[in-house]
Amino acid sequence: MLIRRPPDIPPSEITPHSVYLRRRELLAGLAGLAAFSTLPSLAARAAPTAFAKNPFSTDETVTRREDATSYNNFYEFGTDKADPAANAGPLTTTPWSVSIDGLVAKPATLTLEDILKPVTLEERIYRLRCVEGWSMVIPWVGFPLADLLRRVEPLGSAKYVAFETLVRPAEMPGQRGLFQPLPWPYREGLRLDEAMHPLAILATGMYGESRLPNQNGAPLRLVVPWKYGFKSIKSIVRISLVETQPPTTWKALADEEYGFYSNVNPEVDHPRWSQATERRIGEGSGLFAKRRPTLMFNGYGEQVAQLYAGMDLRANY
Ligand code: MTE
Repeated sequence: MLIRRPPDIPPSEITPHSVYLRRRELLAGLAGLAAFSTLPSLAARAAPTAFAKNPFSTDETVTRREDATSYNNFYEFGTDKADPAANAGPLTTTPWSVSIDGLVAKPATLTLEDILKPVTLEERIYRLRCVEGWSMVIPWVGFPLADLLRRVEPLGSAKYVAFETLVRPAEMPGQRGLFQPLPWPYREGLRLDEAMHPLAILATGMYGESRLPNQNGAPLRLVVPWKYGFKSIKSIVRISLVETQPPTTWKALADEEYGFYSNVNPEVDHPRWSQATERRIGEGSGLFAKRRPTLMFNGYGEQVAQLYAGMDLRANY
């Protein structure tokens, strides 16, 4: 697959490869320390902003950390944007394991430590475009999803990857009580070639820290930057390789409004609002909110358009 540098990255931004590799070794050590330390907050903060910039990163202004960690969608903790930050703190993320099953030669239940052992964490500064019409620029810390999938050896019959979030009503208030906004578990899915694309990552941290705040999907969440944010499922506990398109939460709830693909596309409107523009969080609000044009595939077309060659993107929204 031909992968090109996004057009918004000037060559000067790209770290020489040798420097990058040396830094990665150092950072892998620091990240490992952070991941396995019994003093997580101290260790995780030992390496802020030190991760090397990946060539896929954008040089656009990064959203303030306070905004990215207080304006969230994580319905397991409530439907208001402030609910996840208010309610997700007590979620127990240690120990954590992820079951990987289905059409793979080596199904496994891996602890977070098992998952992280062979990977090198790196920083990816990506645009995040929510289907609701707002966007952010987030410096994730993570590793390619493909690295994990290769470890379990997908069979030739595997065509899709299905993901599930944790169900734990005792710690997730949105999963308790009379009004539950979604059927649980929250489910998402990708075609296998989308999942193997180098832009698709599993994030374990953000803003130079190797651990995610709980409201952002700790300890492990998907990030698929060319798709609307709801595809980027949080707090993953199960990954299944399957033959047919798996059911996904928002599509199951409102098929007319949310498709399986959900590629960011300014030309295909949501039935209830335009997708042509977006409000970048931090660029004014209310009457003063600026809107900027939404980019095809969220600006990652050069890297991903070939995945959809010949496909009707209006029909496959
Ligand atoms: N994952 C789970 N499990 N539950 C959710 O409600 N919301 C999605 C996605 N992942 C969601 C989820 C939506 S709609 C968006 S826009 C992004 O998470 C938001 O990620 P952020 O809060 O880190 O910005």
